[in-house]
Amino acid sequence: MERKWTKDSWRGKPILQQPTYKDQNLLKKVEQKLSKYPPLVFAEEVESLKRSLADVTEGKAFLLQGGDCAESFSEFNADNIRDFFKVFLQMSVALTFAGGKPVVKVGRIAGQFAKPRSSDFEEVNGVKIPSYRGDIINSIEPTCEAREPDPYRMLSAYNQSAATLNLIRAFARGGYADLRKVNQWNLDFTKGSKANERYQALVNDITKALEFMKAIGINQDTMPTLNQTVLYTSHEALLLNYEEALTRKDSLSGKYYDCSAHMLWIGDRTRQLDHAHVEFLKGVQNPIGVKAGPTTTVDDLLGLIDILNPNNEAGKLNVIVRMGADKLAEHFPKLLRAVKREGRNILWSCDPMHGNTIKTANNYKTRVFDNILKEVTSFMDIHAAEGTVAGGIHLEMTGKDVTECIGGAQDITEENLSSRYHTHCDPRLNASQALELSFLIADKIKNAQS
Ligand code: PEP
Ligand code: CO
Repeated sequence: MERKWTKDSWRGKPILQQPTYKDQNLLKKVEQKLSKYPPLVFAEEVESLKRSLADVTEGKAFLLQGGDCAESFSEFNADNIRDFFKVFLQMSVALTFAGGKPVVKVGRIAGQFAKPRSSDFEEVNGVKIPSYRGDIINSIEPTCEAREPDPYRMLSAYNQSAATLNLIRAFARGGYADLRKVNQWNLDFTKGSKANERYQALVNDITKALEFMKAIGINQDTMPTLNQTVLYTSHEALLLNYEEALTRKDSLSGKYYDCSAHMLWIGDRTRQLDHAHVEFLKGVQNPIGVKAGPTTTVDDLLGLIDILNPNNEAGKLNVIVRMGADKLAEHFPKLLRAVKREGRNILWSCDPMHGNTIKTANNYKTRVFDNILKEVTSFMDIHAAEGTVAGGIHLEMTGKDVTECIGGAQDITEENLSSRYHTHCDPRLNASQALELSFLIADKIKNAQS
């Protein structure tokens, strides 16, 4: 008989992509400490996100999910958080204006630390060393000692997440997100870019609309959404020691919530039906994402849906499709049709990043802007043809002026990549590229509606 779910029942299942901690006593001590720390999010916030995601599932709202591939301890500072927040608001305004629908904003932030790797080891200058697994586990510094998993890093990740979330909440509620400040969300280095020109035109339209609304008596007192917003948090629930320690029973409902973030997802490498990650996430009330790459079969997906959303709740399960621009048309429609045929409520979103990663001749991991755009466009076309809802996008991006992805109006070339390549893991869209992509998706949404 199947054992009952508990927050540690995952420990009895096979598990992939985990560190091996040398000092098990220290690991236990850290887990116990963490399990006494305050939750980072509150059950009612999680339920509120689930309701918003139900709207997305039904086509009444759009999901914008994005942030770093991997947050890091070294890039942790207020400017980075502020600039991410700014560009995310800009993107959200562009998408709202096009679609005439609310945009549900979910950051890959305040906990996005643990990374799955394609290999356990890598070779640096001819020496084989363990792979970097994210700052919550080991250090990116390429030495054997630095790559040793250290349980204390979980405490640092928690502290960084708490401070990040604190600033996000302050920005979201404290007046920074006031629509009357739409002009101040601009980032200096994006000035003069094509995306910024379009943004300025949008600012003018919004300012006029606000003046009209003020004239007829609608202001922030009668309409609080004019001067505040909500930015939810999410990350891949990969390091289950950390997730278990932050999982708490809600005293009101008696149900379990993973209070490390509002939403958690399962990566493409750890979504096996009988393994630990699926076991753990099936028992928490949070909205769950699951990545679907080109190897996902109809049986895999229906199996995951049975386990992760047994009550067919809208807003509970987000399938994040990441097939690659060239593979999407071959692999995605059969999944979409099967889910439609079975009448399952799924929020479909498009991650156009992870299936489009390439290596340049000089060994940079990168992604080409046009391929990213192509995958989103094709995702939306397939939904239109099937009569289903293209719910949202899932991006790796930053508010900084990095040079990690090739192309876009800025025309970053392979040769430029070395100039500001800062990512700890996968290449991210910079602020201009992220805003440009949002406008192009907005155009697509507008055309589909006209
Ligand atoms: C990620 O989102 O950073 C990631 C590793 O994705 P995937 O599981 O889709 O490869
Ligand atoms: Co990534």
